[in-house]
This record gives sequence, C-alpha cells and structure tokens, in this order.
Amino acid sequence: MKLIAKTLYGLEKTLADELISLGAKAVQQVNRAVIFEGNNYLLYKVNYCVRSAMSVLMQFSEFRIRSVDDLYKSSFKINWSDYLDPDRTFSIVPVVSSPMFSHTGYPGLILKDAVADWFRQKTGKRPSVDTKDPDIVLNLHISNDQVTISLDSSVIPLYKRGYRKEQGSAPINEILAAGIVLISGWKGETSFLDPMCGSGTIPIEAAMIASHIPPGRFRKFYGFQRWKDYNENLFAQVKKESEAKAINPGIKISGSDISDAAVLIAVANVESAGLSDIISISRDDFKDVRTLDSEGVIILNPPYGERIKTTDDLYSMIGTSLKHNFPGYTAWLITSDKESLKQVALKPAIKTTLFNGALECILVKYEMYQGSKKNK
Ligand SMILES: C[S@@+](CC[C@H](N)C(=O)[O-])C[C@H]1O[C@@H](n2cnc3c(N)ncnc32)[C@H](O)[C@@H]1O
Repeated sequence: MKLIAKTLYGLEKTLADELISLGAKAVQQVNRAVIFEGNNYLLYKVNYCVRSAMSVLMQFSEFRIRSVDDLYKSSFKINWSDYLDPDRTFSIVPVVSSPMFSHTGYPGLILKDAVADWFRQKTGKRPSVDTKDPDIVLNLHISNDQVTISLDSSVIPLYKRGYRKEQGSAPINEILAAGIVLISGWKGETSFLDPMCGSGTIPIEAAMIASHIPPGRFRKFYGFQRWKDYNENLFAQVKKESEAKAINPGIKISGSDISDAAVLIAVANVESAGLSDIISISRDDFKDVRTLDSEGVIILNPPYGERIKTTDDLYSMIGTSLKHNFPGYTAWLITSDKESLKQVALKPAIKTTLFNGALECILVKYEMYQGSKKNK
C-alpha cells in the first residue's frame, strides 16, 4: 500500500533515511513529505518508531477531476465499507490548492456527501461526522486536478510524544529537535550538551536516539487503532520488537539553561521520560559552562527574539564561548534570527534551512578545532 509520511520543510532527507532503515520500499522524497510502500506491519512500526515525521497517511484513492461534480462522482465510486461502517464516525481534513475550489471547506463537504450518500444507498444508514473525536480521519488532498484520499494513521501528530509534562516559553518541536540530532550524525559515541535547553526537548530526543528508545513509548493512541482492519496482536508485536532494541547508552547528556523556571520544567520532562539516569540538567549561564571532554556535540537553540527577548551580546557571547571553551567540539545552532547569527562570527561548515512551525530557521554547523580562531 502507498504510505505518505509528512514532515517539516528541510527534514525530507532525514525522514527518507529513517524510513529506509525501518524497512520502507520505493522511498520518494517530495515537498514536506516522503512517499513509500509498505504493509500494516510497517505502518504500525513507522508510527511507533519514526522520529522525524509529523503523521503517516495511507493513500487509498487517487484520481483526476475536471469539474467540481467529478469530485463527487469519483468519491462515490470508492468502496467505503472497506474503511467505514454506518455506526462509526468520521471527519475530513481538506488540503486544497486548486482553481476549481475557492474555499478549502467546500470539497470537504462534497466528499462528506459522497460518503453519506454511498452508505445510505447501500445500507439505508450513514456514518456521522464527528470533528472532535472521530473514529476515522480522512485526508482529502487536491492539487490542481489531482485528488488523493487517505486515512490518517496517526491522527494525533507524532511530535506529541507524550513525555512533555510542561512546556517552556519557546519549546522546539520534538520532530525538529530529533531531526537536528539525526542531521548531526550523533548517535551517543561522544558527550552531548544543550546549554540553552529550555524545557529539555533536545536532550530528551538525543537521549532517546542514543538509547534506541522508540518515540512512541509514551503515546497512548494512534489513529490506526480505530481502523476496521486494526490488528492488535500485530501492533503488540511491533511494540515488543521495537522496545527490545532499547539499550543503556552508558553516556551522560547535559542540558543547562540560565532560567530557573526552564530548569524546573526540563527536570520534570526528563523525569517524565524516564531519562534522569542519562540526562543531567543544571542552571548555568552558557558563558560559564565548561567541559572536561576533548570532543563532543553541542546543539544550541538560543532565543530567536521572536518569542523570547535576546540580549544584544548573546550571539557574540555564544561565538566566544564556543571558541574558547569547547575546542574539539562540533556545534549545531538553530535560529530564525539571521541578523544576530552574524555576531557568532565563526565560519559555518554547513548552513541549511529548516522550519520550526511557521518560523523559517537556519541550522548552522561550527567545527571548533583545537586552537581555532574566529573566522578561520
Ligand atoms: C528558544 S529557548 C530553548 C527552547 C528549548 N529548545 C525547548 O525545547 O524548550 C532558548 C533558551 O535559552 C535560554 N538562555 C538565554 N540566554 C541564555 C544564556 N546566556 N545561557 C543559558 N541559557 C540561556 C533561555 O532561558 C531559553 O530557555
């Protein structure tokens, strides 16, 4: 079956690599998504184990339309009893970009009518729409004349891992946090530090990567669990196999932050994720943070100025501290504040664009050689 994993802009390659390692076939990167082939086993496994996807859709119908009427007619031809019953509820999420429809909601209403009419004609009864807690979520995607209809197998977005007890003022999306760790290539071999850790998202995602802990461990629900063909035993097998891969990485991950409130939140989240043995959180100004190791990875998510006010010299302090206090380290910094980023005044080895929600960000990599100089 054709599966589509959705992600954030900039993480398509990272997601494609993850999917291949989970067993996906015919993997194809598109804008903010990766298309692949798989069966129910893979669908459950991807939902439970993938770190850089927002949701996974199972596409079951694809057709072209020349008019608004075509949408109804083609939707009516689908054998809806494969996915729905009159006593189940459904909702429709329309994602529409087509000159045939000026309102996104309208094609959703057409699809709803086609589903209701199909059941009324076949069974005399029709399933109801429930927008709050539906059994089945249909994703209606229309791009010009191309229509695809899918079931959303995640429903609750996959960044909602379930470990977050509290959030700070500007938490990074869990998918982006995991994506940056995956992009960095760090797998737990060296020390790892997030010196502006806020609510602790990056250290937690890093610890789960190093420990091979599936990100689904804390989740209570996936959309596929309400599908007609849901196989409880198969999902239990997926969970068992995935959990069996967890290891004790035998390393320490450090998170620190200048804010007392952030430290309290990070500690609560680390405890909730069961990672207190691996992650230590402390209250420190980054300029005072030192390391004893000769190499390691730092991931920094400093204030952007959008949601937290930045002090004028924050980014130049970051550059100076990285250069003087972390020789031998590799640092990755993500920010949307392109102007302030210049004040770091270190030469980036890599620069790439990512999105944190709607915010366009730059991810930069700095290599701090022993005795490196600013602008070397
Ligand atoms: C964008 S937030 C980090 C969000 C975090 N990644 C999360 O998921 O919650 C930036 C953090 O940098 C911290 N910060 C600002 N200046 C700092 C400094 N000089 N030293 C350490 N932390 C600092 C702020 O307190 C804030 O928690």
